[in-house]
Amino acid sequence: MEQVQVALLGLGTVGTGVWKMLVSNQDVIARRTGRFFNIQTILVRDLKKKRKVSGIEHLLTNDFEDVMKKDVQVIIEAMGGIEPARTYIKRAIEKGCHVITANKELMAVHGVELERLAGQNGVQLFYEASVGGGIPVIGTLQHFLKANRIHKISGILNGTTNYILTQMDLYHRDFSEALKDAQEKGYAEADPTADVEGHDPVRKLAILIRLVFDVHIPVEEIPCKGITDVTAAELQCARSLGYAVKLLAQAEQYGENGPISCSVHPTLLPLSHPLASVHDVYNAIHIEGDQIQDLTLVGQGAGEQPTASAVVEDLCNLERLPSAKLLPSVEPLLFSAGEN
Ligand code: NDP
Ligand code: HSE
Repeated sequence: MEQVQVALLGLGTVGTGVWKMLVSNQDVIARRTGRFFNIQTILVRDLKKKRKVSGIEHLLTNDFEDVMKKDVQVIIEAMGGIEPARTYIKRAIEKGCHVITANKELMAVHGVELERLAGQNGVQLFYEASVGGGIPVIGTLQHFLKANRIHKISGILNGTTNYILTQMDLYHRDFSEALKDAQEKGYAEADPTADVEGHDPVRKLAILIRLVFDVHIPVEEIPCKGITDVTAAELQCARSLGYAVKLLAQAEQYGENGPISCSVHPTLLPLSHPLASVHDVYNAIHIEGDQIQDLTLVGQGAGEQPTASAVVEDLCNLERLPSAKLLPSVEPLLFSAGEN
């Protein structure tokens, strides 16, 4: 059994989910990868905060220099924001660590720089969790749609707003109540303005555009309107006329290497449209390519378990772990997994 030493930056919704999944699915992961992922240290902001998992107290630090002193092969960044996440990731890469991040804000703005740095240092930088929560859209684009000319990508890229719209539309709840609920369920960003004003799906769209069209479009150049002006009355009026309102992200290229049109805004969809019935925290991504014709991926776009799934799948997909240590025998349960 190969033992892989990991540092976790952040123990909020995503970090907690990652910890729990590495415990609960340890046997499956070991069987399929031959690896045991050992979290050596966890960076948090507040050492006194009550955590949702127990048995981790001795691993916590609030000093990134402690993380750097550990002999880890992989760093998982689940803190969010541009700084200090960008600096920490750069330092980890320069130290020779593979990096997995769920941070769409960072990858949308500095993805090119970070991927270049990872390449220069011969390490891998994976970010499946940054778009679509548990939907493996980045892996699909990177590994299974390399040879297609993709001309359009569109979809619902934010779980919080889709949850709010669904709750207002189908269950007649008000906006702030539904948002509070989404926050409690761990769907929303630390600052939910990024969700409800559309900045979060814009960031995800920028990441997808880079993967699909090989072009970096600055997030501020993507036209964006969120859902804060959408009222329950409008949603119900639309429904009575045979439409659903969805916060749709779309990017389309006109001709090979031609101009790209892209935007995020609330959109009326006929109720017969496949995306009209994508409800609650679900996201959907529709890809149109010259050979594949069209493909839609649907799944839970936010929350602890789907997002942790994307992060841990990235972990399992890492190649080349040269300094991994060999464990002598069948792996015992090294985690104390208790949940409060
Ligand atoms: P949370 O706010 O729940 O957790 C953030 C964690 O990072 C906390 O443990 C916090 O510490 C720690 N942290 C934040 N800043 C610092 C810092 N400067 N130094 C040390 N620790 C820090 O966020 P989420 O888990 O929801 O999100 C994390 C990332 O994953 C974000 O980039 C987000 O966009 C992304 N993401 C989130 C999804 C979701 O459904 N929630 C889905 C997909 C991606 P402390 O606990 O002490 O405050
Ligand atoms: N806040 C984000 C959302 C988390 O609601 O979609 C997943 O990226």
